[in-house]
Amino acid sequence: MSNPNPTYVLGMGSYVPSNKVDNNALSLRVDTSDEWIRSRTGIRERCLAEDDQACSDLALEASVRALKDADIERDQIDLVIVATITPDMSFPSTACLLQHKLGLGKISSFDLEAACSGFLYALDVADGMLASNRYHNALVVGAEKMSSILDWDDRTTCVLFGDGAGAAVLSKKGAGHELLGFRCGADGSDPTVLHKPAGGSLLPASQDTLNERKHFLKMNGREIFKSAVRVMERAVRELLEKHEISMDEVDHVIPHQANVRIVESLAQRLEISMDKFFCNLENYGNTSAASVPLALDEGRALGRFRSGQLGVLVAFGAGLTWSATLIRF
Ligand code: ACO
Repeated sequence: MSNPNPTYVLGMGSYVPSNKVDNNALSLRVDTSDEWIRSRTGIRERCLAEDDQACSDLALEASVRALKDADIERDQIDLVIVATITPDMSFPSTACLLQHKLGLGKISSFDLEAACSGFLYALDVADGMLASNRYHNALVVGAEKMSSILDWDDRTTCVLFGDGAGAAVLSKKGAGHELLGFRCGADGSDPTVLHKPAGGSLLPASQDTLNERKHFLKMNGREIFKSAVRVMERAVRELLEKHEISMDEVDHVIPHQANVRIVESLAQRLEISMDKFFCNLENYGNTSAASVPLALDEGRALGRFRSGQLGVLVAFGAGLTWSATLIRF
């Protein structure tokens, strides 16, 4: 399938902190085991940022690599979007902090919050802004310091996540992987299934919210599991249908890296072989908005995606949000 006006991925980069924490190390902190975590999720270890490393620092490392890979001068970037649910602070945006750290021009910079679907949402938004011709080269980043919002005494959540960042430089001109189509959706009917209850305007920080540990991520894992498989299946089917592509034509699926059992269920429902799914969650856990670009960048570096092959990026996240993107390598 062709698209007369694709967005090109001129370059990519990713970064994870050097501090690797394996399941055995976690089992010293909470009542868990390597066997439980591996069998329920597929995760073996995750990388955790240092105390003085903020989300923008992770984003910076990935962005520097992406700009180098794209071989583009910094003054040519005229748009920065950072997808994150763990910004350095609630305002100003992490994108503004990144714009300054990178020494970019005084360009349009903003954060986008769609949790684990954030990077794919940001690709869709950037594609639209580039298509308007008012922007020419966008830096799109998914970056998370999930460790900063985890309750390290809650074994049901803290074992699942990790920190990291992935970035892409996009343009309507040039050469590179082609972004051919996008499908985003959301259902906000039950925010409590996955949320951080306090710290916003609904429940501002107070001694009570601190005592009740409401500044940490809370999740109904079973409900999220079921919804994740359902919404990702639908997003992929709708995306392919819109672009008149059959399942057989898909060479690779790069899914959100939350849980290998979710990926296996998705593969089964789509009737796509697991061999076509690229997974690296074993080494990083769920890095939320960083997860898909981390996987995409690692797959590229490993030479997994051959020129001309067709891929689908797909994610789900708090909201509930979901997104699928069609890519020609
Ligand atoms: N170690 C040992 N035991 C544990 C742990 C742990 N870390 N966590 C939970 N358990 C126990 C539970 O207490 C429960 O015990 P019980 O039966 O005595 O009550 C038992 O293990 C089974 O718990 P379940 O919740 O039923 O386990 P399940 O097989 O559903 O796996 C999991 C839990 C891994 C969380 C799974 O439901 C899942 O992956 N859900 C999706 C989560 C997800 O993808 N979240 C990311 C969303 S993306 C975003 O936007 C941030």
